[in-house]
Amino acid sequence: MTFHILIADPLSEEGIQPLRSLENVNIITDTNLTPDELGEKIADFDALLVRSQTQVTSEIIEKATNLKIIARAGVGVDNIDLNAATEHGIIVVNAPNGNTNSAAEHTMAMIMSLSRKIPQAYNALKNHQWERKKYVGVELKNKTLGVIGLGRIGAEVSSRAKGQRMNVMAYDPFLTEETAEKMGIRYGTVEEVLKAADFITIHTPLLKETKHMINAEAFQNMKQGVQIINCARGGIIDEEALYDAIISKKVVGAALDVFEEEPFLDNKLLELPEVIATPHLGASTFEAQENVAVDVSHDVGTFLTGG
Ligand code: NAD
Ligand code: MLT
Repeated sequence: MTFHILIADPLSEEGIQPLRSLENVNIITDTNLTPDELGEKIADFDALLVRSQTQVTSEIIEKATNLKIIARAGVGVDNIDLNAATEHGIIVVNAPNGNTNSAAEHTMAMIMSLSRKIPQAYNALKNHQWERKKYVGVELKNKTLGVIGLGRIGAEVSSRAKGQRMNVMAYDPFLTEETAEKMGIRYGTVEEVLKAADFITIHTPLLKETKHMINAEAFQNMKQGVQIINCARGGIIDEEALYDAIISKKVVGAALDVFEEEPFLDNKLLELPEVIATPHLGASTFEAQENVAVDVSHDVGTFLTGG
């Protein structure tokens, strides 16, 4: 019996070699499918491999009459309808560890770019403007970094921030004061962290509970002149509320890798000079992409061979 595997988002070729080397496996890569096209094809496949772009909705799952496993080459499974998959007996696996380091490094790059206005100064210089007065930054040393979500990435960011001599304060519903102390981090409720932080970085999944958790009320509780970083998921920050908080000068800088709608052609936040941004690049390194592809290949291979 041949197992038919569809790779619907770009994955590292080196990473999927273990899957290619299996017997009786037919792998099709098609990374430009519209939702309708995916719906038309999906019944032909036993396994589906995706990153964050392909939306595996209940409509797609409804049509996936032979699908046995969906593999997400990355952490967040918010692009997969988990309830629909469960109802149809389809296993969902992800690759939670492979991109932790890359996402943490990207977050640090964003924090440092933000604090020293590097993207803005670079843009000005490229436009033949030598602007030394306009781009005065702030030091990170002795500033408080508020970490919302102290899981794998939040913990890695915290330890790097301590290397920058920042004071780290964190909120996570599973964090105890004792664990925080062992990590050299100050524990706080979400309100306490928002109130104390000079920089706030978000590292939670996008869930019903975290959607718009950083909203107008949360911005009100923050320090005047706070800077905010989101390398987790679009939708955790309410973009309208962030826009208003920047206009009112409550927030003086925002670094965004993720957006409520992706990909987009237009987003009014990008018109603000206080906002720096990357197009969902947190996990976009050769190392992370190979790691996550190896992990999902291993899981899909094990499953398809009866493991
Ligand atoms: P993780 O599961 O290790 O950590 C998430 C943490 O968030 C957990 O400790 C959890 O307890 C906490 N959390 C849950 N609900 C919370 C709430 N309401 N308030 C505060 N904390 C809460 O996941 P991770 O590997 O650290 O990844 C975090 C997120 O980062 C992923 O879900 C993914 O969406 C995103 N991510 C983005 C990129 C990127 O390319 N930008 C790359 C990797 C991961
Ligand atoms: C993730 O959740 O792992 C990230 O969104 C990275 C990605 O797949 O681009």
